[in-house]
Amino acid sequence: MASEADRAADLGEALIRLDEVVKVYDAGETAVHALRGVSLVSGAGDYLAIMGPSGSGKSTLMHILGCLDVPTSGEYYLAGEPVSRMSRRTLAKVRNRRVGFVFQTFNLLPRASILRNVELPLLYAGVSRVERRERAREALGMVGLADRAKSLPSQLSGGQRQRVAIARALVNKPSIILADEPTGNLDQKTGAEILEIFDRLQQEGHTVVIVTHDNGVAAHAKRVIRIVDGLIENGRPAHLEAPPPTAEGAPA
Ligand SMILES: Nc1ncnc2c1ncn2[C@@H]1O[C@H](COP(=O)(O)OP(=O)(O)O)[C@@H](O)[C@H]1O
Ligand SMILES: [Mg+2]
Repeated sequence: MASEADRAADLGEALIRLDEVVKVYDAGETAVHALRGVSLVSGAGDYLAIMGPSGSGKSTLMHILGCLDVPTSGEYYLAGEPVSRMSRRTLAKVRNRRVGFVFQTFNLLPRASILRNVELPLLYAGVSRVERRERAREALGMVGLADRAKSLPSQLSGGQRQRVAIARALVNKPSIILADEPTGNLDQKTGAEILEIFDRLQQEGHTVVIVTHDNGVAAHAKRVIRIVDGLIENGRPAHLEAPPPTAEGAPA
């Protein structure tokens, strides 16, 4: 079976590489060991589904991948750069440029038009007003909402709101799209429409990581990562067990 180390060697400089990542939350008297040594390697254009029971550490893992939080120990290399050595400022910049986040509950600003909502990451990135408008419109077009730019989130359906959230995640052209149960609050048909968007993004070269409880959703991914009690479960589906093709020049 290809270990994560083998996978890393094959990928050269991987986009995402976690080495023995541990996350301990300090919850008053007790410490919560949310991640207990997670190693993972993923390249550009990958599509991962993260599955596992509630409380197993999925969201914690997503927060670390998205630089919203840092490991207690172990290391996260993002495009070869160790995240632990980045200053807060650099971390915020990297998060803004490289990562797009989509949440289960959409997290839109209720009083701002959807165009404004989508523009927000560009505002933080210091993009000029004219360019912000243009790129936000383009991102809304990609999710089929070009004609709703002036609407408020409350005037849209759940599926449309999630599409706005995806447009907001896309607008910076991030290399990584992280989606934490993005279809969890949607009916099946609407969820399927959202998944089509993620499929398209992956085909366009984005790395997509999606947390889901739904096997149907996970079926869209190239790899399923099962996480139980803060650890990645061993054993991949049989079709992923085959050894990777030997890289040219590597010892046989
Ligand atoms: N900010 C936090 N402070 C303390 N404990 C937390 C915090 N966030 C998550 N946890 C705990 O860490 C564990 C993993 O949580 P989480 O990553 O949200 O799991 P999942 O997304 O798989 O349901 C749980 O026991 C949860 O209660
Ligand atoms: Mg969660």
